[in-house]
Amino acid sequence: MPTLPYDKTEIETLIRAALPREEGLQRTVIRAMREAVENGGKRIRPILLFETCRCFAARRGETGWKEEAAPFLAALEMIHSFSLVHDDLPCMDNDTLRRGKPTTWYVYGEAMGTLAGDGLVLEALTVAGRAVGQSRHPERAARALAILGEKSGVFGMLGGQSVDVEKTGERLDATTLDFIYRLKTGALLEAAFMMGAALGGASEAEISCAEQIGRSVGLAFQIQDDILDETATEAELGKPLHSDEKNQKTTYVSLFGLEAAREAVRQQSEAAEKRLREFPGETETLAALIAYLTNRRF
Ligand code: IPE
Ligand code: IPE
Ligand code: MG
Ligand code: MG
Ligand code: MG
Repeated sequence: MPTLPYDKTEIETLIRAALPREEGLQRTVIRAMREAVENGGKRIRPILLFETCRCFAARRGETGWKEEAAPFLAALEMIHSFSLVHDDLPCMDNDTLRRGKPTTWYVYGEAMGTLAGDGLVLEALTVAGRAVGQSRHPERAARALAILGEKSGVFGMLGGQSVDVEKTGERLDATTLDFIYRLKTGALLEAAFMMGAALGGASEAEISCAEQIGRSVGLAFQIQDDILDETATEAELGKPLHSDEKNQKTTYVSLFGLEAAREAVRQQSEAAEKRLREFPGETETLAALIAYLTNRRF
């Protein structure tokens, strides 16, 4: 994959430290879980969580926010990785390449691929649950855990994936497509901004603002993913091209065409950047991340 315009070293160290050690008779599933997370990826959700937390914590001059954010950004990336491991399964998108490497099920088989995905969700819960108990601000940490659960489950990512699967092969209208995107992709991006805000001590009104930003970024991000599925190269993306066409998915591009899809990305990205001005403190890093995400070629 091409080089990213930001440094993810610190975040990757934090994520790696939260993963279970490869030991015991169950070490195969743990290896599959670690590989699925460690195999690369842009790390945008944990980075957005981290940077949002930084903005809010800085307002009261709080220190120690990195320690508070670390387990939650790792848990969020584990859930995201689980969603990809299951998304690639033969019963879902049936893809064999992810982040430039063979997919988990393709290497370990379907049963182990399924278990590795399940293992990642449950490990995420363990890590985040433990963090609530150890937090200096248990009420903030509990709020972050509740957001993580809600945005991952049937009212979030998993709900969106289920409608995506159910409607495969059908020509969808814009409302249904928006619903799918808002949940399957938007929800975990909403979670990134919301959890970062909650952990940084934001009010409920500010957490709602974070949710709105995540919603716009999520829509723009998935529409861009559809555009790239048709226009990028496999080397840039690290995943197969034309996966949507192969699976007969209605996408923004198939429904509205490339130009309208690009215009929708621009609009959502602008909406996100506008609302970002309501965040306290230095938001330049977040603004630059949003601009990259919605203009990315990989
Ligand atoms: C891929 O997410 C799945 C979508 C929601 C489009 P990312 O593009 O964030 O995947 P990685 O983590 O960088 O591989
Ligand atoms: C999946 O959307 C979003 C998830 C929740 C995993 P896609 O099926 O378009 O994601 P890619 O293109 O395989 O990453
Ligand atoms: Mg899919
Ligand atoms: Mg897919
Ligand atoms: Mg895709």
